[in-house]
Amino acid sequence: MNNYEKSVYYTLVFGIKFEFQRLITVRPQITYYGHSCFSIQLGGKNILFDPFITPNPKASMVDVSTIKPDVILITHGHGDHIADVEAIAKQSNAQVIAAYEVTEWLSQKGVKNCLPMNTGGSINLGFCYVKMVKAEHSSSFPDGSYAGNAIGFVVNNSECCFYYAGDTSLTLDMQLIPLEFKLDFAFLPIGDNFTMGIDDAVKATKLINCKKVVGMHFDTFPPIEIDHKRALESFEKEGLSLILPIINQTIQL
Ligand code: NI
Ligand code: MN
Repeated sequence: MNNYEKSVYYTLVFGIKFEFQRLITVRPQITYYGHSCFSIQLGGKNILFDPFITPNPKASMVDVSTIKPDVILITHGHGDHIADVEAIAKQSNAQVIAAYEVTEWLSQKGVKNCLPMNTGGSINLGFCYVKMVKAEHSSSFPDGSYAGNAIGFVVNNSECCFYYAGDTSLTLDMQLIPLEFKLDFAFLPIGDNFTMGIDDAVKATKLINCKKVVGMHFDTFPPIEIDHKRALESFEKEGLSLILPIINQTIQL
């Protein structure tokens, strides 16, 4: 082989090896704790999103004392996203990443390991890269005080790349995400009333150029109860796949 052939050969071999590694490691484990709360195993660490477990009767079988994440990501200050942050952060000493106003509020409650960010910011945590992206939603604490902007997250490492939308409407800004990231899957709200419903979530899935969606923010309260069959069919009709997770179950994506 001459040098050119060698370089082509090595590019191919290493390219295939890299893709193969992605294929065998691209299926991260996620556990659903109800409403919008998930934990995901990534890079040997555990990330927890928006813990709302103890006030949720549908998640009464979840033992919160066993949840020990390394990192907690919070999208906004509403009670149905932060109810158990304080307890879980204190029992795990997890790093809590949220909008500046949310981390200030948690710090006042004695949560030690907070990392404030704001919309558009990103950070390298070593085992993954986290970017805070725009969401269209309100954000206040249960006592009504100001909690900054509601946001979403994109999390990326060599294993996988995903978008956790938080509470949001469908927005044109979602088109920015695939300009920067190639998503393997996304967590989208589908319950309607307070967030996007099924039809807008299908449109969002196209805007973010993703094929696989995990539904969240559905069935917890009567106003956000959904027709599961219609939800699954609406995605399937467009060649997209929707997963409706079951509380306290772990799946491999
Ligand atoms: Ni909310
Ligand atoms: Mn909510």
